[in-house]
Amino acid sequence: MTTLASSTLGIPEARRIPRHIAIIMDGNGRWAKQRYLPRVAGHRRGVEAVRNTVRACAERGVEYLTLFAFSSENWRRPAEEVSFLMRLFVMALEQEVVKLHKSGVRFRVIGDLARFEPKLAGLIREAETLTAGNQRLTLTIAANYGGRWDVLQAMSRMLHDRPELAGGFGERDFAPYLALSYAPEPDLFIRTGGEQRISNFVLWQLAYTELYFTDMLWPDFDAAALDRAIVSYQQRERRFGRTSEQLPPDAGLAAHRIGDTGDAG
Ligand code: IPE
Ligand code: IPE
Ligand code: MG
Repeated sequence: MTTLASSTLGIPEARRIPRHIAIIMDGNGRWAKQRYLPRVAGHRRGVEAVRNTVRACAERGVEYLTLFAFSSENWRRPAEEVSFLMRLFVMALEQEVVKLHKSGVRFRVIGDLARFEPKLAGLIREAETLTAGNQRLTLTIAANYGGRWDVLQAMSRMLHDRPELAGGFGERDFAPYLALSYAPEPDLFIRTGGEQRISNFVLWQLAYTELYFTDMLWPDFDAAALDRAIVSYQQRERRFGRTSEQLPPDAGLAAHRIGDTGDAG
């Protein structure tokens, strides 16, 4: 049922194209402010960057793309901004889902959906059902998601199903209950907008993820920016606790470069 290859129980296979990319899409508000526009204009443009990023990931053979769209702490924002974001989510679903389906994207949402309007929750369920059989790219939107919420909901569900584990359990018991259990651990984490923090995004599975931060604001993010992040990833040596000398000779990702990005260093 799961594709779990834990980076702490084993050593995941290193591939030159990350199988799973997780992105904190940050900087929409500042993008708008720079243009003397209301913050929500930045969110609207952010949807375009999402569209381009999904396409670019599919073209490059990325299998899982996980995007942080709304955190469990984003309810703290002004009510008008929150309600605009919810309407934007509804609009984006209405406009994009059929296109995503036609291009072979499997659509998932992780997060606590209980707090969403029934209409939005219904659209999410429909989109997940429609696209369930697609295999080209799994696009996960994290909405009303928090890494701590995820760990706690997983723990609660596990203990509900298997009360005998209260005395002790391991990763293999626990990990299948995490919201992203259908995906391998992210290989590459990207955060736009210049902040260097996790902001309660996926916590458990980032254990050995390569982190990449860029000052670029999310509405400006595009295929070229994605390629720069992937090239940076390809220059890392993923040791998973071992020494360099212990790595198999072909383990480095740098020997292979993605196509003609021109900035492979
Ligand atoms: C990210 O952009 C989008 C959401 C959190 C919904 P921000 O809205 O956080 O933009 P900045 O960080 O204020 O520029
Ligand atoms: C993180 O961005 C959440 C999303 C991108 C959805 P924030 O803008 O909410 O993060 P902080 O508040 O700067 O840490
Ligand atoms: Mg922000």
